[in-house]
Amino acid sequence: MARALAVAGRDQSPAVLDVAVPNPGPGQIRVAVEAASLNGIDAATGSGQLWDSVPHRFPVILGRDFAGTVERVGPGVATIRPRDRVAGVITGMTLARGALADTIIFDARSVAPLPEGITEEQAAAAGLAALTAKALVDALALTPSDTVLVAGATGGVGAYALQFARSLGATVYATARPGEPTEFVRGLGANETLDYTDGGFSAPSGLTAIVHAAGDATALAALLPAGGRLSSALGASTTAVGRSDITVTPVMPTATPEALSTILDAIASGTLRVPITHTYAMAEAPQALADFGNHKLGKLVVDTRR
Ligand SMILES: NC(=O)c1ccc[n+]([C@@H]2O[C@H](COP(=O)([O-])OP(=O)(O)OC[C@H]3O[C@@H](n4cnc5c(N)ncnc54)[C@H](OP(=O)(O)O)[C@@H]3O)[C@@H](O)[C@H]2O)c1
Repeated sequence: MARALAVAGRDQSPAVLDVAVPNPGPGQIRVAVEAASLNGIDAATGSGQLWDSVPHRFPVILGRDFAGTVERVGPGVATIRPRDRVAGVITGMTLARGALADTIIFDARSVAPLPEGITEEQAAAAGLAALTAKALVDALALTPSDTVLVAGATGGVGAYALQFARSLGATVYATARPGEPTEFVRGLGANETLDYTDGGFSAPSGLTAIVHAAGDATALAALLPAGGRLSSALGASTTAVGRSDITVTPVMPTATPEALSTILDAIASGTLRVPITHTYAMAEAPQALADFGNHKLGKLVVDTRR
């Protein structure tokens, strides 16, 4: 059995439940998960918003990213051994076996090894958010002459996106509420901040690109001059924003081991900071989920062994 943050049925709330764990099949590994993090899709799943639109199988275990130690390998697994430290990210839209559990069965070819000098908490908090942020920034092909607005910079995806944009030399405007959120994005390297709570904001001078990780895509797109670029984690498209003179790219990250390793190496080398603002014990996982939707900053992590 595994302890997991799961939803037992359509009319149930997320709770820490015991769920059955099969033996690893051919090509699979069993990982003793040490940390998992929360993402927007977990909040949407936990609040029951997705049952009519997304394929699912109860009990639905929440969580998209994890890190831990391999316990056992299935038949045919040669590249990974018990005691290896690994990280993995679940993509795809079916909701069933998530990562927020103390044990997970996973495809051996889909995990990345943890480099020296990185903790399981850091790796789990990178996961989906950092992969998505990297894909959002890559889609904009930023150069040092770009001025980019990161909408949602206080969240998991945005906090990574602003760092990737800065590392390419772009000037970054980050959205943030006044006070601690503004200090948070400044601490991650934002050049300027924009208060999105005060009736909105006007276009920053020289704006060429936008990372859309929160807010209204049409309103954001209206800030761009002709030829501007917008990449969206929320599925915005050129048609949806009503601007044929800008490029809008909806982004879905791919979670290859190579892509994840690039992120983990950047963390290990100190060039990418992991914005963890709170770590919860497993018993507190429902509280972590509640806190996710209540103006938290950066990443929330669950220590699944506590
Ligand atoms: N395409 C994909 O595969 C993919 C992958 C990962 C995430 N996503 C999506 O990307 C979005 C961001 O994910 P996340 O994990 O970073 O979520 P998150 O941690 O909740 O971050 C969202 C941030 O945006 C802020 N915000 C809310 N309204 C805003 C507005 N109008 N303008 C600017 N900022 C605003 C929030 O601040 P407050 O708390 O103050 O409201 C919060 O800090 C979610 O919608 C998620 O579902 C998509």
